[in-house]
Amino acid sequence: MKKAHKPRVYIETVGCQMNVLDSELVIGALRQHGYELTDSPAEADVLLFNTCSVREHAEEKTYSALGRVRHLKRRHPEAVIGVLGCMAQKDQELIRQRAPYVDLVVGTGQLAAVPELVAQVQATRQPQIAVSLGRADAGREEVEASFISYDPVRDPSMRPTPFQAYVRIQIGCDKFCTYCVVPSTRGPEQSRPPQHIWNEVRQLVDQGCKEVTLLGQTVNSYFYRQGDRGTRLSDLIAGMHDIRGLERIKFVTNYPKDMTDDLLDAVRALPKVVKYLHVPAQSGCDEVLRRMKRNYTAAYYMDMLARCRERVPGVAVSSDFIVGFCGETEESFQKSVEMVRSARFKNSFIFKYSERAGTKAAERYADDVPEEVKKRRNNDLLAVQNENSRLDHRAQVGRIVEVLVEGPSRMAAKMATPVADSTIVQLTGRTMTDHIVVFDGTRRLIGQIVRVAVEDASPFTLYGMVVTDDVVNAAVVGEGEGSPQGWPRRPNRYSLPMV
Ligand code: 5AD
Ligand code: SF4
Repeated sequence: MKKAHKPRVYIETVGCQMNVLDSELVIGALRQHGYELTDSPAEADVLLFNTCSVREHAEEKTYSALGRVRHLKRRHPEAVIGVLGCMAQKDQELIRQRAPYVDLVVGTGQLAAVPELVAQVQATRQPQIAVSLGRADAGREEVEASFISYDPVRDPSMRPTPFQAYVRIQIGCDKFCTYCVVPSTRGPEQSRPPQHIWNEVRQLVDQGCKEVTLLGQTVNSYFYRQGDRGTRLSDLIAGMHDIRGLERIKFVTNYPKDMTDDLLDAVRALPKVVKYLHVPAQSGCDEVLRRMKRNYTAAYYMDMLARCRERVPGVAVSSDFIVGFCGETEESFQKSVEMVRSARFKNSFIFKYSERAGTKAAERYADDVPEEVKKRRNNDLLAVQNENSRLDHRAQVGRIVEVLVEGPSRMAAKMATPVADSTIVQLTGRTMTDHIVVFDGTRRLIGQIVRVAVEDASPFTLYGMVVTDDVVNAAVVGEGEGSPQGWPRRPNRYSLPMV
């Protein structure tokens, strides 16, 4: 019997921006096959879980999500349940053991095949598995070819906002940090041809996109060779900079050893490039860095940081740290504390080490830091970072910043009462240094770049008000600390919960 409605797909995404983008692409492809998106698992014909393996916690999240839909499968055995992405690439067998009702297991390099594989499950009722070759299964070229760079169909409804999009410029990773599963779940590092990327950005801008975030595991290692010419990340950015309608270009995540001067000069010189660099340090202790196989010392990292700040004045830098890595003593942990204290990062993402089967660290070193110690170190490092974030945010008070308005603040969104475009609501957006700003304005401002006078700050959020041109002219733009001049000071109305 023919169904009365279009087939529906439900998707849950765990993990990094790369996964968010993969989910957009999978949904884009399924829409082309007649599917529509639903946010209700019970109504879905196809339920997809796009997964992350970077830490055990992320994997457990997926297994509990799968546990929650088990009863649906009992009631609707025709529903197709699929596990996509990193866990699928890494643990095909385990997934089928722990959740035998899963019909589809598709690795990161095979996502283009999802619509076809779903159709095969529906036609045959047989489970389908599609994964790429393991790094040791064949020669490099063959393994590379099995990770299919897949960026065909964009789906605006799946983007963070209609005017912001992720663009993959590179797949995989060749760094092999000893703790990390990514080189095996996402395969060898491969850069996409610049022409493909420029075309995609043009297409996105035609669809109304104003900001693109270029994605790669080590995005600043981007290099594409064509004959005797090579395109570096700085060239790639320069080549898209003048696309009319494109307003902002970001890129994440950077590898400290590949932070070249040509890239920093491009960040400084090109006005559309966001003055924000995410450059994970992972540890401040040389011995730990060596065991992590990061290929740099703490002193090298600090020199690189100084170079970033010298070549791009005013740049905001953020970092990642892992605490409780194998053999991390109290003394080595204190070196990370010292680095966080002196580096004055805008923010840091701090993770407790999670042993991952198949990595060199799991093979070579004991996961010997007890969980309570990891937890305590995580809190201690976060406390030092939070103090720096507070200082960094306070230093923004009195400035006028350019903000791309992303939408209602979380608080305003929670209220969820429909309001007219002209009603004043609390809005949020980001500055050119990636600071989050909350301010009042009409919904018409969403998607626009506005200037906001920063009046107050918490460790994570700036609070301000939109300034008119008259006021901007009378004030110091983007400079200086202290009390704002040239715009009316309002009482501290923003004593709101953190947004
Ligand atoms: N355990 C904890 N954190 C990890 N990361 C990567 N692998 C692990 C692991 N096994 C962190 C790193 C990386 C971020 C994305 O995740 O800090 O930069
Ligand atoms: Fe993992 Fe290191 Fe590659 Fe980053 S650079 S994805 S931490 S292996």
